[in-house]
Amino acid sequence: ESEVSLRPRNISEYIGQTNAVNQLNIFIEAAKKRNETLDHVLLYGPPGLGKTTLSHIIASEMGVDIKVTSGPAIERAGDLAAILTNLKDKDILFIDEIHRINRNVEEVLYPAMEDYCLDIIIGKGPSARSIRLDIPKFTLIGATTRTGMLTSPLRDRFGVILNLDLYSVEQLLEIVTRSAKILDVPINNDAAIEIARRSRGTPRIANRLLKRVRDYAQVMGDGKITLKIAKESLLVFEVDEEGLDKVDQRLLQSIIKNFAGGPVGLDTLAASIGEDKETIEEVCEPFLIQKGFLNRTPRGRVATDFAYKHFNCKR
Ligand code: ADE
Repeated sequence: ESEVSLRPRNISEYIGQTNAVNQLNIFIEAAKKRNETLDHVLLYGPPGLGKTTLSHIIASEMGVDIKVTSGPAIERAGDLAAILTNLKDKDILFIDEIHRINRNVEEVLYPAMEDYCLDIIIGKGPSARSIRLDIPKFTLIGATTRTGMLTSPLRDRFGVILNLDLYSVEQLLEIVTRSAKILDVPINNDAAIEIARRSRGTPRIANRLLKRVRDYAQVMGDGKITLKIAKESLLVFEVDEEGLDKVDQRLLQSIIKNFAGGPVGLDTLAASIGEDKETIEEVCEPFLIQKGFLNRTPRGRVATDFAYKHFNCKR
């Protein structure tokens, strides 16, 4: 997969998330000095900020193997038991979207995280009994969009809880420049800035836009990404001047046109644009709030003056 090659492999190549990275460096070094397993880590923040990438880096820094899965992929308690019993001491289990884990599966995780064991029920009815099975001392890395989406018993079992922030344009510029070098595509600095500016604070989007702009440059130009090529192609790909994609645009325009600028409740808004609530809350809103297009109020979502100006609308 070409996406993988753009991923930094060690912590020194990883750009941004300075706070999380500084903390992790300390915890990793301490665990290694004591020859212990790294404590369980919860990473939270909007999608595309490199939670999976960071987990691979943690594994490589710890010198252990990592097994990657996701909350929805673990359907039954037995699936999780199979995964856990196949790990080696100090290995990392990465569970993406851990908030979507099934209740029965979650209950298997508690003793696994706390005491490195599984409680297995054998038999049925009055003769049923429970046996404890030891499993390797592993590290769970869970990823979620907000900590509030986890039940508190699960959240409480993570020794390290780290918030990943949206990236600044400067950091995204570094990422775009690094990725262009890896992809071997010539790019002007002003074009790289333009892509960085329009990437919604998200490395995954920056890398995706870079690849699409590269396609455009190869077909419509001579292969070099100039500012003109970048702007033209982003117009074609429906990413606007501020980096709003189609969903962001429809969301804001609906608040302005259908709900007189708000406040409008999340359910109503979701229904009006045909998006699910989770996407609106976890994907669109963090960016729109950060950029000052939208406010969350107790009575609902409100479009800001800046949003009105952006779409040339009058109050
Ligand atoms: N690619 C995706 N995320 C990255 C990051 N944080 N640093 C460098 N390259 C990346």
